[in-house]
Amino acid sequence: MTHRVGIMGGDGIGPEVVAEGLKVIAAAGVELDCVDYDLGGERFLKDGTILPDSVVAEWRGLDALYCGAVGTPDVPPGVIERGLLLKMRFDLDLYINYRPFLKAADEGAEGHDFVVIRENTEGTYAGEGGLLRANTPHEVATQGSVNTRMGVERACRYAFELAMGRRRHLTMVHKTNVLTFSGDLWERTFNEVAADYPEVETAYNHVDAACIYFVQDPQRYDVIVTDNLFGDILTDLGGAVSGGIGLAPTANLNPGQVSMFEPVHGSAPDIVGTGKANPIAAVLSGAMMLDHLGESEAANRIRSACAEPNTLVGTTSEIGDLIVARL
Ligand code: IPM
Ligand code: MN
Repeated sequence: MTHRVGIMGGDGIGPEVVAEGLKVIAAAGVELDCVDYDLGGERFLKDGTILPDSVVAEWRGLDALYCGAVGTPDVPPGVIERGLLLKMRFDLDLYINYRPFLKAADEGAEGHDFVVIRENTEGTYAGEGGLLRANTPHEVATQGSVNTRMGVERACRYAFELAMGRRRHLTMVHKTNVLTFSGDLWERTFNEVAADYPEVETAYNHVDAACIYFVQDPQRYDVIVTDNLFGDILTDLGGAVSGGIGLAPTANLNPGQVSMFEPVHGSAPDIVGTGKANPIAAVLSGAMMLDHLGESEAANRIRSACAEPNTLVGTTSEIGDLIVARL
């Protein structure tokens, strides 16, 4: 059975790392029926296209989307982020942002293995707010945080289910001591869902304290659930303490529906064309896509090939070739 996958290489190093991911997936024996989408900052500069509704409608008929990175220095901030990436997350209701962090133990340093489940459709990302009296001395900017009972509950439930299949430990991260409205909703919802999972041990960390633990004691974590903005910030830190952002994959999931897979990193225009881009984050995102497509056996082989002790060094395509050779 072939899977219908939309490919969006995007900008900068995006197309380079996606090419390696597709090479590895093919070598793992999974056939994809790919449809290419030329979208991103470069496309916007060419003809003003960001993400037409007709494209989103096509995507609903696919099994998955595999993306590289979007963003071009010449496009003002927010245009592509909100118009393409967030529109994709919101329109396809990709409500789970799943980011695993795995670091093998080595001489002197302990390893770790945890997953951040970031709520992916609400919070400050929802776009609530605006400018009043813009560009006057009396201007006002507000940017609210939207938290719905349904949105928080489905993120918590997903995280508890995930914890059940792992080490049965789930930490909620928030800032309930200051964000007393959204924090209260999160805390009550988390505790109510927890009652359905008595086997899962729960914990709570304020987000600032979690930053310390990410650096000093990441072994304490199994699964973390948190809101959209805290999750954004924490997962960059998670990448940094797990071997670098070049290794960190993402799944943007609407479980059972078309979902989107991409590296955590950006388009890195400064190294485009140099062969310096590390394709491992894209390859591991491809493995997560295979899990979603029911091809977990191939996904596990790809993950093992990436995790073999001999370090993967070389250019972007040499690293891809090495992974292929290990399969
Ligand atoms: C991420 C990115 C995006 C986000 C940006 C590019 C909109 O930083 O996927 O973490 O903030 O979610
Ligand atoms: Mn981010």
